[in-house]
Amino acid sequence: MKYTAVLVPGDGIGPEVATAACEILAAAGAPIEWIQCTAGVAALEAGEKQLLPLATIEAIRKHRVALKGPCTTPVGGGFSSVNVAMRKTLDLYGAVRPVRSLNGVKTRFDDVDIVVVRENTEGLYAGIENEITKGVVTSLKVATHAACMRIADFAFRYAVHRKRKKVSVFHKANIMKLSDGMFIRCAREVHDEKYQAIEYEELIIDAACMRLVQDPTRFDVLLMENLYGDVLSDLCAGLVGGLGVVPGANLGENAAIFEAVHGSAPDIAGKGIANPLAITMSAVMMLNYISETHSDTALAATASRIRAAYDRALVEGCKTRDLGGSLSTKEFTHAVISRL
Ligand code: NAI
Repeated sequence: MKYTAVLVPGDGIGPEVATAACEILAAAGAPIEWIQCTAGVAALEAGEKQLLPLATIEAIRKHRVALKGPCTTPVGGGFSSVNVAMRKTLDLYGAVRPVRSLNGVKTRFDDVDIVVVRENTEGLYAGIENEITKGVVTSLKVATHAACMRIADFAFRYAVHRKRKKVSVFHKANIMKLSDGMFIRCAREVHDEKYQAIEYEELIIDAACMRLVQDPTRFDVLLMENLYGDVLSDLCAGLVGGLGVVPGANLGENAAIFEAVHGSAPDIAGKGIANPLAITMSAVMMLNYISETHSDTALAATASRIRAAYDRALVEGCKTRDLGGSLSTKEFTHAVISRL
């Protein structure tokens, strides 16, 4: 079987790490044929008129699966996030970010195994901001009953499918009584009606953050609205070695985009030192997703082989600088390939 997937290298370190991931997949014999598309500043540089070209969206709609590098969003002005636009346009409402300790990466905790599930389409990322009068601005936090119900169902379904034991909802419903209030009421309702075998808890997010950094091992699946999920993904990454080692998937009913949690890292872009592991792990998630969709056990075995190779590379001390090593992007890529 051969599969077609869309590749969006993105901006900054995106092309460097995306190339590395593709080399590793090719060396492992993953039967993926890439359709290369552009998005972000890279799209404009390639002569497109839009940051998110229609051709890119159409290709993802058609092939249903994409691997994506990060896209830059300017801070405090300029254009709106291409990443957010892509998730909304394709209705990729569920972000899944698995955060697990890696044997070769020494951190304060040895046994972190958390999955952040983030609502991907609304909240403050609705992008509705107004300057009401000079010096007074508002940012609207949007929550709909339908989106709260479907992300709750998504999180519990994920927990059942992956044999997880507990879902913890992080919220601030003591302050945002309507929006976060609805979020937890929906999660509770979905749990009580359909998923009572899964343990369920609600935590106010400030205290939850404290508990998370004190003892992450008490957590399993974390369910959050958009902004909290964004922030907590990076916090959780910090528990296992940083942004270089946390992958992600944006999932909807009709398409899936796999991308690392990290951004375009302009501080190290072009230096050849970025860690390609997070996007490679995202590519492994993509292979597992395709293998499940097509019941292709050989593809699942290929994904496992890649995972075993990078696990072994780390254990044997092959690391990029963000993990305290000295390997370049290319050297780490070859270290993984030589262990396949
Ligand atoms: P960032 O994740 O790009 O970088 C934060 C820090 O982590 C930097 O010091 C960077 O060098 C380091 N880092 C990140 N990924 C790394 C890797 N693979 N290997 C080694 N070091 C790595 O976050 P930042 O600086 O806040 O954002 C930069 C740009 O990326 C912004 O324009 C932001 O909007 C965008 N962004 C895009 C995302 C996406 O496309 N999904 C996600 C997050 C940010």
